[in-house]
Amino acid sequence: MSIQSVEASTPRSYHTEPIVVVHRARSGTGPVSMLHHMISRTHAEDLDAADPVASHRNSFLLPDGVRYLDGNSLGALPKGVVERVTHTLTQEWGTSLIRSWNEAGWWKLPGLVGAKLAPLIGALPHEVTIADSTSINLFKVMVAAIRMRPGRTRIVVEAGTFATDLYLINEAARLTNTTVVTVPNGADVATIMAAVDERTAVVCFTHVDYRSGRMQPMNAITTSVHNVGALMIWDLAHSTGAVPVDLNAAAADFAVGCGYKYLNGGPGAPSHVYAAARHHESIDQPLPGWHGHARPFDFEPAYAPAPGITRLGCGTPPLLSLVALDAALDLWNTVDMVALRAKSVAMGELLITLADERLVVHGFTVASPRLADERGSQVSLAHPHGFAMMQALIHGGTIGDFRAPDLLRFGFAPLYLRYVDVWDAIDDLVHITETGQWDDPRFATRASVT
Ligand SMILES: Cc1ncc(COP(=O)(O)O)c(C=O)c1O
Repeated sequence: MSIQSVEASTPRSYHTEPIVVVHRARSGTGPVSMLHHMISRTHAEDLDAADPVASHRNSFLLPDGVRYLDGNSLGALPKGVVERVTHTLTQEWGTSLIRSWNEAGWWKLPGLVGAKLAPLIGALPHEVTIADSTSINLFKVMVAAIRMRPGRTRIVVEAGTFATDLYLINEAARLTNTTVVTVPNGADVATIMAAVDERTAVVCFTHVDYRSGRMQPMNAITTSVHNVGALMIWDLAHSTGAVPVDLNAAAADFAVGCGYKYLNGGPGAPSHVYAAARHHESIDQPLPGWHGHARPFDFEPAYAPAPGITRLGCGTPPLLSLVALDAALDLWNTVDMVALRAKSVAMGELLITLADERLVVHGFTVASPRLADERGSQVSLAHPHGFAMMQALIHGGTIGDFRAPDLLRFGFAPLYLRYVDVWDAIDDLVHITETGQWDDPRFATRASVT
């Protein structure tokens, strides 16, 4: 899916008046008829007018006619990134050439960008670095954590966690002779802990589930895991920049996260990896490259890990992407995370209320937790024809995404998303459902990316 392929939407008229609707009572007692004051578009406009975070939208380049509810997959382009990457291309690479490794500070950038990002995840500046992809970092910290608990033979993970996590955790288990134990998705702390005991070396969870948006109680799980002497890894792919995260308060051991989602670092932006300072000198990671070496330019034949978080580096970072991420992070200096979270929650509630009002009657169900405290910054709706419906939505300029078997995902990136975008997205979905526009062969064809 590319933004360039999206056509501008055609203007539509919006309902702004209270209307009489027939809907099914929540108790399941059958249809009831009532005068129901639907949330109007004007209400969404009022929310935008009072939004304390609204001005951040001006820092982004967003195409006209697009309602972008997919910042949970690929964040929008910050204006500052264009300038910074252009400078790196033309001046640092084009003119200074290899001298930029020293003169422009390229060599030290992973640690500096990690330190810049650290406050967003409740880490100390020297506890975060930027390297590789989330997948690769997960593998590094998983093996390192298992090695820190010799004699323990189990890894506990959610059965339906993001597929790459499962693949890499299974491989880490194969290499370290440990066994992967799964718990059901969305299990409560008691159910999780029934699978965790003194045989457990490491527990790895995704903080916010990529499908349902369910957010796990980080502090409670981490504390329970520590109580049996195991280590805790958090996958923050759908958390960093989306919800307040405090790894130090939770006493988390390791964490990994994405640069290209809510942080707006651009397609393929490198990942961040966190290790609690208390573990740094014990980290024995399985991909010991020269960027994690204590003396990289001595080119010694034997690996000697760098002190601190640097040892989680491996090979040469993708500099242009790293620079883009660095520039994207500048925006966060002035972001009030409490206000950001409040807006994200309010957007989730707006979407859920609108779905209840206008979409449940068409066979949609809300597949995300209704309690804001249990939800990240996305809401998923389930419908058997979800795939075609999402393609029809995208065709009309409302961009979300689809996750099999039936989930339409809508992400809220509060820095640039407006309440009216949420309202219009639901209005679009109602429209394509009521007109049957989604039921067209061109919306049934799967591209490589859904
Ligand atoms: C929860 C989760 N973990 C890990 C990843 C993998 O990230 P990457 O492909 O950058 O390695 C993703 C990607 O979307 C994800 O959503």
